[in-house]
Parts: sequence; C-alpha cells; structure tokens
Amino acid sequence: MTEQTSSVAGSRSYSVAVLGGDGIGPEVVQAAVKVSQHCASKYGFTLHMRPALVGGAAYDAVGTPLPAETLSTCRECDAVLLGAVGGPKYDTLPPALRPEVGALLPLRKELGLFANLRPARLFPALASASALRADIVGAGLDLLVVRELTGGIYFGSPKGRSADGLSAVDTCTYSRTEIERILHVGFRAAAQRSRRLCSVDKANVLESSRFWREICNEVAAQYPDVALTHMLVDNCAMQLVRDPRQFDVIVTENMFGDILSDEASMLTGSLGMLPSASLGEASSAGGRGTFGMYEPVHGSAPDIAGKGIANPLATIISAAMLLRHSLGEDRAAEDIERAVAEVLDAGLRTADIAAAGASSVGTDAMCEAVIARLS
Ligand code: IPM
Ligand code: MG
Repeated sequence: MTEQTSSVAGSRSYSVAVLGGDGIGPEVVQAAVKVSQHCASKYGFTLHMRPALVGGAAYDAVGTPLPAETLSTCRECDAVLLGAVGGPKYDTLPPALRPEVGALLPLRKELGLFANLRPARLFPALASASALRADIVGAGLDLLVVRELTGGIYFGSPKGRSADGLSAVDTCTYSRTEIERILHVGFRAAAQRSRRLCSVDKANVLESSRFWREICNEVAAQYPDVALTHMLVDNCAMQLVRDPRQFDVIVTENMFGDILSDEASMLTGSLGMLPSASLGEASSAGGRGTFGMYEPVHGSAPDIAGKGIANPLATIISAAMLLRHSLGEDRAAEDIERAVAEVLDAGLRTADIAAAGASSVGTDAMCEAVIARLS
C-alpha cells in the first residue's frame, strides 16, 4: 500500500488506478469515476484516481499494450477500474502486442487476480430484454459465475506450435492450491447467498477435472451449510437455457467460466448492464478490502466509440463492486446499485437496452440520472 492509501484517523482515503483503454472504455469509465466521486463526498472518503494507459491506446502511445508503469500504478493502488481493451485495428498484431493477450491476461496474472466474479442479474425493468421466454427466465434472475482466472488452459505450458508447423498445443494444468483457493471463493459466495453451489467440470473426460471434483468434495466439508452439486460443463450449458433458476452460484475453471459467463449474460439480455470483479487473495490486514480489478463485461464496442451513446451502467455497477469488495465502502456501493435500479424503473434507457422504436438517452444523461438518485 502506498502512503496515499493509508487512512488517518477518521478520514478514509483510497487510490484507484483508472484504465480507460480502448473504444468506449474511456467514456464509460469517466461516467463511473464521476458517480464514485459523488459517493466519496457523500460518504466522507477520498478517492485518488490515477489514470494509466492500457490496451491499444497504450500500444499507440508507447508501443506496448501493458507499459511497466501501468502495472506499477496498479500495484500501488487499492483497486483498478478498467474500461475495455481491443479493437479491429489491433487484431493483426503479433499476440504479445494485442490488447487481449498482451495486456488483459498479463494484468490478471501479474496482479494475482485469480477469482473472477461475474454476476448475471436481470433487472426487473429489463425483463423483456432476456433472450429467454419470461416463463423460463422468471422475475429477477440472479446468478453468479465464479470463474478461475489465472490458471488452466489459458496459461499452462507447453503452449505453441511444433517446430515443423504441423501441430499446436495448449495445456490445461491446475495445482491443488489454485483449485482450493477458487473453490473457497465459490463456497463463501454461496454461503452469503442462497447456500447452493454448483461446481462445473468435465470429470468424465479430463484428469484436471477429476482432480478438481475430488478437491471440491474435500473443501465442501468446511461448508456444511452449503449444498454442493457437481455438473458436467456440456450439461450446464444446456441447463442454463433450459432452467436457469436452478442455479445460484456456479464455480468453475478458467475456460469453462469464460464460455458459461457469456451464456449467462445473455439470460439477462443486456450485456451493457453486467459488471465484473477480478479479485486477488483476501487481505489479512483487518478492515481493508481485497485488491481487485473491476470492469464491465461488454467489450470496447469500437463501432459506437466517441458518439456519447455507450451504456455506462455496467461500469457504474462495477465501480459499486469496487467500493464494496476492495474499499469496504458498502453503503456507497448499495446506494449506487439502488440508484441504477431506480433509473431503470423510471424508464431511462441507453440505445442498447431501449425497446425498438423507444427513445433513448446518451452516456452523460444516464450518468447524471444515476447521480441525481444517489441518496
Ligand atoms: C473475457 C474475455 C477474455 C477471456 C479475452 C478477451 C482474453 O473473453 O474476459 O471473458 O477470454 O478471458
Ligand atoms: Mg469471455
């Protein structure tokens, strides 16, 4: 922790690395920063926002998608707020220079952000946006995907092409430690919600999955109040659209979580609404939250960048998660979440969530409407 972040008696002060990134990233992040600063003055804490370059924007400015300075800024802060990275302009660069592989994955790995929380919550006001029929999705669908984020096939070695160019390999490897710590996150999340945890694997085929399932059964003994089920990933993909309400918390490895969280997001019908948190090891220093990086699930949407029409709500809700998980400012977080629900109830919509033919507001107006409803 830096000097800036240490709190003096009675005054709470935090620093947040602000990584706008590419496309609509800077616009939605700016809105979330504005909302957070309003909360800070309302609830009596100070936020030091420290901007840093990432993604294609960083590549354009300094020739690398993840400058060392950005990484050190993140390390010095209590949390990171990220917009989005990537865009067609960078798709043909070598992998190490591409925003996704060259910035996002190393950010997660270097910062030790192994636990990715992806809540998929259907706001009642947006029920008609769901890709599923109302009788299947129900009122108030609310599930949480807990995805392992720094292991598995994304990072295992060997990885690459054979010398003769005739084959390619990626390796899925997991250590006991990696599996245990993400399972604990899953069990703890379930314990605070409806006490149901579904662990998803491919234990009928993969050794890493059989290892995962074995460890999961062991860890379960420490959470007697949580009802644990196991499900194969192909079945889970099917059950999510057949009967999503059977799930509360899903815990799974990196690639399964990548795929299932995209699927879960569509149950809510509005990608523009979904936040995410990527967390590291829980802080042992009493009172302090867990270091984390917070970002909307939607991408950089280069087609609408700079037009002032992007939906800032996913990033604003991500900022609420930041306040809760990393700063311990729960009241401010709840205030933001309530304000967002109220704005939707009042009928305000950005273009992406507006019904066909209905009128919509831009990024700034949506942001101001949220601020106006903070208590
Ligand atoms: C996500 C994305 C990333 C992932 C890509 C952009 C590397 O799909 O955050 O879900 O696969 O993790
Ligand atoms: Mg993904």
